[in-house]
Amino acid sequence: MILAQAIKIKMDCPGGNNMTQEHPLIEEYRRFSPGSETASVRAREVFPGGDTRASAHYAPYPLVVEEASGCTLRDVDGHEILDFMNNFTSLIHGHAFGPVVEAVQRQIGRGSAFAAPSEDQIALAEIITGRVASIEQMRFTSSGTEGTQMAIRCARAATGRQKIMKIEGGYHGSYELAEVSLVPMPNMCGPLEAPVSLPVDKSFPESVLGDTVICPYNEPTIAANLIAEHGDDLAAIIVEPVLGSMGMIPASDSFLKTLRSEADNHGIVLIFDEVITLRLGNGGAQAQAGVQPDLTCMGKIIGGGLPVGAVGGKRDLLQLFSPEQEQPIMHASTFSGNALTMAAGLAAMTHYDASEVERLNGLGNRLRAGFNECFRSHGIKAVAQGMGSLTNVLFAEGPVTNARQTMDAMIGAGHVTQLFHLTMLRHGVMSATRLMYCISTPMSEAEIDQGIAAVDKTLSDLKPYIEAERPNLLA
Ligand SMILES: Cc1ncc(COP(=O)(O)O)c(C=O)c1O
Repeated sequence: MILAQAIKIKMDCPGGNNMTQEHPLIEEYRRFSPGSETASVRAREVFPGGDTRASAHYAPYPLVVEEASGCTLRDVDGHEILDFMNNFTSLIHGHAFGPVVEAVQRQIGRGSAFAAPSEDQIALAEIITGRVASIEQMRFTSSGTEGTQMAIRCARAATGRQKIMKIEGGYHGSYELAEVSLVPMPNMCGPLEAPVSLPVDKSFPESVLGDTVICPYNEPTIAANLIAEHGDDLAAIIVEPVLGSMGMIPASDSFLKTLRSEADNHGIVLIFDEVITLRLGNGGAQAQAGVQPDLTCMGKIIGGGLPVGAVGGKRDLLQLFSPEQEQPIMHASTFSGNALTMAAGLAAMTHYDASEVERLNGLGNRLRAGFNECFRSHGIKAVAQGMGSLTNVLFAEGPVTNARQTMDAMIGAGHVTQLFHLTMLRHGVMSATRLMYCISTPMSEAEIDQGIAAVDKTLSDLKPYIEAERPNLLA
């Protein structure tokens, strides 16, 4: 989710864009997608703003997808669109992957959910614990949101402390604590050395803001100082090895290593949120970084495209959930470990082995190099950055290393981010509105090059408008 909101806020900023509906490139998008526009009129009757999921919405209206297979989506107007969104990185094998389809078809005929253990649950957990060195035991949840919630509860139960250190711009799910300071607006976020805990909307209770200590990404010295100041009150530090929602920013080695050592020094539980990044290594991004957390949150790819989440980690921490404990952490959840998700997840993870991880990461390098060459040759100040199969485009000189720089880039780009996204759709490529591109196994170099060609065409379309409306983006 997230950047949809950040983009919205950016659009409302002074210096932002007030011309969305009338822009000629938006008119072109409307001409391209009449079927989706018609559906959006119906949607507005039953959903506020026509939307039932913030992260999937964009103005003037999103394309309505009819069906999908492999890495291709077909919208209601019959366009074939290359999918670099993959339901926000969860579809590691793209759409309708044969082994997942077979596993789900087989399972649904035998029952979809039982309030009972199953062999598939055990088998999927064995794959994950076998690959990720820091995960000795785990529990499934129904979403990544629930996975991070359970990790935080586990840390609180283990330490008897309440406060959580969270990264500025980090997203950990759809609840208040997980969204504090998700959108660090420049005029509100306070000094870099002591960021303010900011609500993301009007629903936030004060108590949640008071429960968080916000730390900027990739600032090891500031992190150490904040932990020295608040360490005795901190139950957990929760961090993504790549800051996903703020532009796929890889963590520096020294940042993660500092968090690890300072967590040890102060008896704090270190949580890696690998809901997005697990795909980056056979043992997750933590294996690439060479830093082991105490707890890992998972989701997305481990469910084979069905709703899923999980928390795993050290045996002594996971034992706090054990029903054999005196007072276990309460974790019920009707659909956790349901039979359909387990069947799909098992098929997906079995086919996502170390060689596929490497192949997709290599395709990611090709994508970034190609995109960056397009920006250079068109004379546009933009960067495609990220890690392995995860990429984000930002209109900035780059590299962007923390959320404040991302916000500056987004505000500086104004409406150009939106125009880039919509124009890429017209040229047959779907990304997240925040310009996140992720790669799935049906893709090969041909699809990556198709994506690069779409960037080239999009920049040709955008260049006259950038020259006239956002000359600050010219290199
Ligand atoms: C890093 C991260 N953590 C947690 C979540 C929440 O996962 P879910 O949407 O499955 O609840 C997300 C979702 O995008 C995420 O990106």
